[in-house]
Amino acid sequence: MSKVAKKDLIAGLNVDLANEYAAVITYRTYASQVQGPWRQELRNFFAAEIPDELLHAQMLCDKIVAPGGDPTVKAAEVKKAKDAKEMLANALADEKATLKRYVERRKQAESLGEYGLVVELDNLIADETRHRDELQLMLARWE
Ligand SMILES: [Fe+2]
Ligand SMILES: [Fe+2]
Repeated sequence: MSKVAKKDLIAGLNVDLANEYAAVITYRTYASQVQGPWRQELRNFFAAEIPDELLHAQMLCDKIVAPGGDPTVKAAEVKKAKDAKEMLANALADEKATLKRYVERRKQAESLGEYGLVVELDNLIADETRHRDELQLMLARWE
């Protein structure tokens, strides 16, 4: 891996890591704050996303450190929401953006011959696709 390409990949993984940390904070905050008739379901749903996102952060952090990178300790911006629908809409937008970044990162990793990372990113892509699909289905019938 050339020095520049390696630097670019690590920088990208750090953006991904900051967003995974933000996802953990987002889901934790929404799980506690959500109100209304679906509170119990939504609280459980948001809380259930947290372990997935933490595992994603773990993988990214390890993959930044392995080639000598410095992992970020800052989370990306967390969006506030005024009600349950806005929480779901924010979460859906975030999952879509994350998915897009992982598809890009996967291409970058593949072009650099980082095949182990490609496999790890495939798993993240599968997880985030599931998150996106569930959010889309919940929002589809929202009044
Ligand atoms: Fe994630
Ligand atoms: Fe997710």
